[in-house]
Amino acid sequence: MEIKPYDTRASKKAEVEQMFDNIAGNYDLLNRVLSLGIDTIWRKKAINTIANKNPQYLLDLATGTADFAIEANKQLNIEHVTGIDISHEMLEVGREKLRKKSLDHKIELIKGDSENLQLEDNSFDVATVAFGVRNFENLDTGLKEIHRVLNKGGQLVILEFTKPTAFPFKQLFNAYFKYLLPLIGRFKSKDSNAYQYLYESVQAFPDYDRFIGHLQDAGFSKCSYKALSLGICAIYQAYK
Ligand SMILES: C[S@@+](CC[C@H](N)C(=O)[O-])C[C@H]1O[C@@H](n2cnc3c(N)ncnc32)[C@H](O)[C@@H]1O
Repeated sequence: MEIKPYDTRASKKAEVEQMFDNIAGNYDLLNRVLSLGIDTIWRKKAINTIANKNPQYLLDLATGTADFAIEANKQLNIEHVTGIDISHEMLEVGREKLRKKSLDHKIELIKGDSENLQLEDNSFDVATVAFGVRNFENLDTGLKEIHRVLNKGGQLVILEFTKPTAFPFKQLFNAYFKYLLPLIGRFKSKDSNAYQYLYESVQAFPDYDRFIGHLQDAGFSKCSYKALSLGICAIYQAYK
């Protein structure tokens, strides 16, 4: 069954775009508060796994408000970062942030679909996606597109939620993730469905070895993963 934010006849892609447009205004704040700030540590760790510390061109897909792109630019000596997202409102929040940090000459944000990239083959040294692939309408199409635009030998780094398995953390985390988070989200976010969708989409998403299988099917090699924070999320790495 396809997990979508709303119960409408629109496609998952259209609903996801709508949802992120709705929550863009307080996305960053809710991220920090609801993850107790740990999301910034996950981002740092994920960017730290990029082997090429001097990439010319880095592509950040599902860039949202550009936090992952900003962290990549901070840690690496990059010539140019391209961030792509389907949500206009998320990009607008990101653009404002880049202007304030005087990074708008270095990091370019473009509205676009990761599953149909208007980009040349073999044109990026590194591709990154943080908490994005789970939202793709067609995961395999998206991964194949990333493979197409990466240079030969280029690295893909993905940060995505997984499902904790160890007792009693699994039970405690699930209570928070399934019940408390949607409740807080309902009051604090402008979209009562967003945090319900977050929980459901994580439950339905292939994690660890199953996700590695999707990466391999898309043509990637040397695929690996590292679980973070008792299995709340994982960093996946793969090469073209
Ligand atoms: C949870 S946010 C993550 C944003 C950012 N990467 C971060 O770490 O904060 C997921 C983002 O994926 C974007 N997205 C979902 N499907 C997409 C697609 N097919 N192409 C581009 N962006 C997409 C959404 O609009 C949203 O901004």
